Amino acid sequence: MKQILVTGGTGYIGSHTAVELQNAGYEVVIVDNLSNSSLEVLDGIEKITGIRPAFEQFDLIEKDKVNQFFTKYPNIEAIIHFAASKAVGESVEKPLLYYRNNLVSLINLLEAMDQFNVSGIVFSSSCTVYGQPESLPVTEQAPILKANSPYGNTKQICEEIIQDTLVANPKLKAIALRYFNPVGAHPTALIGELPLGVPQNLVPFITQTAAGVRQQLSVFGSDYNTPDGTAIRDYIHVVDLAKAHVVAVSRLVEEKSKKQFEVFNLGTGNGLTVLDVVSSFEKVSGQKLNYKIVDRRPGDVEKVYADTTFANEELGWKAESSLDDILASAWKWEKKIRGIK
Ligand code: NAD
Ligand code: WQD
Repeated sequence: MKQILVTGGTGYIGSHTAVELQNAGYEVVIVDNLSNSSLEVLDGIEKITGIRPAFEQFDLIEKDKVNQFFTKYPNIEAIIHFAASKAVGESVEKPLLYYRNNLVSLINLLEAMDQFNVSGIVFSSSCTVYGQPESLPVTEQAPILKANSPYGNTKQICEEIIQDTLVANPKLKAIALRYFNPVGAHPTALIGELPLGVPQNLVPFITQTAAGVRQQLSVFGSDYNTPDGTAIRDYIHVVDLAKAHVVAVSRLVEEKSKKQFEVFNLGTGNGLTVLDVVSSFEKVSGQKLNYKIVDRRPGDVEKVYADTTFANEELGWKAESSLDDILASAWKWEKKIRGIK
């Protein structure tokens, strides 16, 4: 069985990807420092797949530990690198924490890949690298605009670090996956998103409001140039996203990449407004959501959604779930963790 290192594998997207990798017959080894996740996630993965992945708890910014890891696991064939700090607002407050964590972790992994002969890495990037694109849907060729947060900048710099490293080391291959807005939970409700504190993202805020944890959702802005005035995003089910990682990593281990560095947009291609999400949630949950319209959130773009042609054709992958399915899974998960029937 081919062994894959999943960094950040107890986190939100990493845990769903660990499930899909195991379902596809890969052997998963997770590394996580549990700074934004917990050990119980391993129980969820085991319940869904029947397999408990190997787990090593340490911080990827510690180079010695990274090297000890690869000495202990000499058969790792490729890496999927999710581990990173990801809160946009926090990155403005603590830029150096973000630069240190996100950049040093990647550098340590790339150095270890050379030393321990691991040839492929899949990197978690983000549609945030496009800022507000001039034309939509946005393709992988759209220009990278100046990042509007230190977090976003770490994604841009990490993509550049990877590309420069590949030039210097022709043995290495990488795939950057630029996610649009990952939402939802596993349909079993055994794993899902566990935001710490007050959620910054739309869907966890909606489900927590419906569960009574938050009083009211603030809809940020209704004067955008969109059909209902609220901002447009491309919401993708986390399970669909996870499946794309299986395809990407198999492309690396089976040597099917067409170029040393490849980039794919991972979205559905559908642009939906905030109020589309609210009304779909009300439909699937059967309850009215308490919300009010407030001012725009600083730094938000008006609209962004993916051109998925390249991912669809080249990876043979397509997001399958509807917005209703996505929100039903998010609501099922929220009810489960809150003990709501
Ligand atoms: P998450 O916080 O749920 O998962 C990240 C995991 O990495 C956590 O379990 C955390 O404990 C771990 N981690 C962080 N720093 C670490 C370190 N130095 N050493 C070891 N473990 C560490 O986040 P997520 O939503 O699953 O995101 C995964 C990746 O996808 C991140 O790189 C993120 O930037 C990227 N991404 C996320 C989104 C999104 O909306 N969720 C969108 C685009 C890109
Ligand atoms: C979606 C829409 C908000 C909360 C962020 C990061 C991005 C990527 C994904 C990592 C926007 C609106 C939200 C609320 C609202 N992450 N909203 N009320 O901003 O598209 O992207 O997560 O790479 O980098 O910036 O996602 O879920 O925060 O917002 O009205 O309480 O919902 O204004 O239009 P966003 P989001």
